Amino acid sequence: MESIANKLNVFLADLNVFFRKLQNYHWYIEGEDFFVIHEKLEEYYEEVYKQIDEVAEHLLMMNYEPLATMKSYLQNATLVETENKKIKKEEVFSVLVNDFTHLMQEAKDIKKQADEKQIVETSTFIDGMISDFNKKIWMLKQTME
Ligand SMILES: [Fe+2]
Repeated sequence: MESIANKLNVFLADLNVFFRKLQNYHWYIEGEDFFVIHEKLEEYYEEVYKQIDEVAEHLLMMNYEPLATMKSYLQNATLVETENKKIKKEEVFSVLVNDFTHLMQEAKDIKKQADEKQIVETSTFIDGMISDFNKKIWMLKQTME
């Protein structure tokens, strides 16, 4: 079984790719509702930026080494990067629902393994992120109705 440290580092790599993707969309979004979506994407990437720091510092607190280079993030990430191109809101929303769902599944896997190994610190740490992703998925789906 993959170690919990590895899973946390893959999660960290994915959050970094996701951060870059959110700012990319913040810059490249065009069309209807530009003002609202441009702002919302900034709010999202600022939150992910904080989560990146929290995950890296959690790894350190558990005596593990967080990945900290762009190269290692790209090598370990399971989320797919985006391109340098203009994008419309329908595609942004659909990618965001998929990516938040992917991140939530990774967080749930980390929690499951932490519970099996009775690592309470990691199990409780990851709870906030599961709730956060779950709420964002719901809100994005409401927007897409
Ligand atoms: Fe900006």
